Amino acid sequence: MTSLHLDPVTIEHHREPLGIGEAAPRLSWVARTAEAGWRQSAYELRVTDPDGVTAPFTTGRVVSADQVLVSWPAAPLGSRERREVAVRVWGPEGDGPSAWSEPTVVEAGLLDPGAWEAVMVGPRLPEPGTEGEPAALLRGSVAVPADIVRARLRATAHGIVTLHLNGSVVGEDVLTPGWTTYDRRLRYATYDVTDLVRAGENVVGAHLADGWYRGYLGFWGQRDVYGDRTGVLLQLEVDHADGTRTIVGTDETWRWALGPVTRADLYKGETHDARRELAGWDAPGFDASAWEAVDAIPCDLTRLVAPTGPAVRRTRIVHPVEILTTPSGATVVDLGQNLVGRMRLRFPDAPAGTVVGLRHAEVLEHGELGTRPLRAATQADEIVLDGRGPREWEPQFTIHGFRYVEVTGWPGTLAAEDLEAVVIHTDMRRTGTFACSDPLLDRLHENVVWSTRGNFVDVPTDCPQRDERLGWTGDLQVFAPTASFLFDTAGMLTGWLADLAADQAPDGNVPPYVPFMGTDPHMPPLGAEAGWGDAATLVPWTLYERSGDAGILAAQWPSMTAWVDAFAARAGERLDFSSGGFSFGDWLDASAPDDQPWKARVPWQLVSTAYLARSARVVASAAEVLGDDAAAARYADLAERTGARFRAEYLTASGRAAYPAQTAYALAIAFDLLLPEQREHAGALLAEQVAVDGFHIGSGFLGTPLVCDALADTGHGATAWGLLLQKACPSWLYPVSMGATTIWERWNSMLEDGSINPGGMTSFNHYAFGSVADFLHRRVAGLAPAAPGYRRIRVAPLPSRELDWAEASHETPYGTASVCWDRDGSAIALAVTVPPSTTAEIVLPDGSEPIEVAAGEHRFACVLPVEEAAGRPAEFVAD
Ligand code: BGC
Repeated sequence: MTSLHLDPVTIEHHREPLGIGEAAPRLSWVARTAEAGWRQSAYELRVTDPDGVTAPFTTGRVVSADQVLVSWPAAPLGSRERREVAVRVWGPEGDGPSAWSEPTVVEAGLLDPGAWEAVMVGPRLPEPGTEGEPAALLRGSVAVPADIVRARLRATAHGIVTLHLNGSVVGEDVLTPGWTTYDRRLRYATYDVTDLVRAGENVVGAHLADGWYRGYLGFWGQRDVYGDRTGVLLQLEVDHADGTRTIVGTDETWRWALGPVTRADLYKGETHDARRELAGWDAPGFDASAWEAVDAIPCDLTRLVAPTGPAVRRTRIVHPVEILTTPSGATVVDLGQNLVGRMRLRFPDAPAGTVVGLRHAEVLEHGELGTRPLRAATQADEIVLDGRGPREWEPQFTIHGFRYVEVTGWPGTLAAEDLEAVVIHTDMRRTGTFACSDPLLDRLHENVVWSTRGNFVDVPTDCPQRDERLGWTGDLQVFAPTASFLFDTAGMLTGWLADLAADQAPDGNVPPYVPFMGTDPHMPPLGAEAGWGDAATLVPWTLYERSGDAGILAAQWPSMTAWVDAFAARAGERLDFSSGGFSFGDWLDASAPDDQPWKARVPWQLVSTAYLARSARVVASAAEVLGDDAAAARYADLAERTGARFRAEYLTASGRAAYPAQTAYALAIAFDLLLPEQREHAGALLAEQVAVDGFHIGSGFLGTPLVCDALADTGHGATAWGLLLQKACPSWLYPVSMGATTIWERWNSMLEDGSINPGGMTSFNHYAFGSVADFLHRRVAGLAPAAPGYRRIRVAPLPSRELDWAEASHETPYGTASVCWDRDGSAIALAVTVPPSTTAEIVLPDGSEPIEVAAGEHRFACVLPVEEAAGRPAEFVAD
């Protein structure tokens, strides 16, 4: 076992298991070894108390192959309890044990509301709009006895907060505590502040802005969605050497004042008046006697939840590539990348009162900043300098989607070193890569990665720039497989799914976005929305497939079944969804008029019937995993009846669609709604349809993610390649050829003449159509899960004459898996890495029998079959 290394044990889906909410967290570990065929035959888990108070616990040798989300073996944790966890393993022949893994320290948060002694307090802010939307400074002075062993600061807010302790900012998180369904779930964060606390007087500060709680939200100008009073709840807990604990926190002795941030809005931007900065406000010795007393803010502590995934953080810096002067004479900085975050500026010395303004936009239109698509989200920041020398500044309560920044009022000549963009998103671990020999396809993939970063900012959003930025359920439903390959999304999305369940209507209906904050009074009445509501069933299923976490299915079970029941109720007795009414349907079909994105080639009822069948089947499968046979039979029957209804209503007996369109065939094939005798014909008809459409996209949000799979799975891989490599609009590569650096909402968000699509809804950073990346990973490179958590892998690459090579890798729960194929003429060489403890099924593109392999490095060779080697279909015109 010399060549085996164990990664430290991971805890649930946490990146940092500090202040977790699980009393009995599940444990996972990865064994790294190149030994061919290695698999775990047994393990031993050791749980010790780093403070030595509780006796050590070990499981002894457990004969088991399990190593992903293994049940907590020891006594459950109480609030604040800490343990060190380590594992060692035995190999396939019982050889071992290995050395112990490096210990992981896990620490519980506050597991019951009674452990909170602080009370939420808040400032008395002016009405929004009258005197701006200022952020408030709150300050409390607390006494801490000596002999400090450890200190934790726990905090949440109605609003968003930056925490301070004794003159320092606490932690690296931003936009704390993020956005949840606040009235039912309010997340709190825990920080290790041992190094910041001292014996004697300590000053705790909170810089508090409106954020999602009270600020401007959504697309019809709402404010005060959750309440009109912001507040902060904060508790400092200090452990002393003699075993005692000091707990102090927000209470009515705290005081507040307005500070330098005179305007703070997530959508509209921030104004910072440096002349109003109060040096030392967050440290002892500051005179706050003129500050006002805070008010206690009612706060139901039973809503408090610990994080299930990582926080939002600054993850990288992007430097300007060019400083332009626009035709109208404006100074505009080009970052070369459409991104989400904000600017950090370094000012030279300048007179007090100098005002520097920033306006952010995703694109230039005819050389000028294109701000029209932002609608009410003006994304404008401003700083008023104080004349006290050079300084640095980054807004703290706002976030923008942009590639270009117009700078006004800069003192002197602006240089590239004066500013940089700070990229901000949920700090998920990157787990997946893809690369290939086609630079355009590579850039398409990179654009998907950037759109994931930009739209996973605590909530998975439709877009990060205009006055929307909402957790649209349909967008995530189609994108979750892609996102879950690229990043470890399980922690963040587990939390979001809990919000989805909390926001579900009593009749089981799922709101169109989560967290839900009402619907626009101008919107048509929404029923159970196919493809959007199905996020309730399909996102948990995707997470289960990708992470192996059946606990997600168990947790979401009531939500999943309630959704399918509500959906079936909308379908009615005959499961045929009555004619009339409104539904998003195959939203943004390439043929839909710019101002009527719901007018797709196929009726929404067709899409709904297909989705009901799909969700019912997924719920039946989930029931099987959870061991509920009665529910499995009930939902399997619903799936069967709905599938039959789909065939009766929308297909001929031979498999021809009543509405000839890519989406009709793609849904039928990918959701397995066809009789065996219809499938081949439907596949051929889909290929024919794509050819009739000139190898252009002919589908919307719901059809597009399925078309390439449906083609490849029915033997029309070459047609899928024709679609993938198309460069003329509508296609995946048209935006790339127009210089896109993120995925666009519309195929033609930017028209060929460089003008922005005239529709009122035009984003340049919308991940939905980026869901094709899942096809690049699973089929082009050929790396797909064949059992939950990639315990078994399916390697079925789809090489093309158009490419010389493609590769993908994924950090599976068992370790790194990778696939790489190289083409030399018709000869394909394939290299596959199968992680320890897993197996793989290799399906070579020559049509030969699948090959079973165990863990290790494997190489294969084959010759492309004639039809694939023929390359593009004759009708295909790419340029
Ligand atoms: C959003 C979409 C969303 C859609 C609902 C749009 O305004 O940006 O991505 O799914 O509305 O149909």
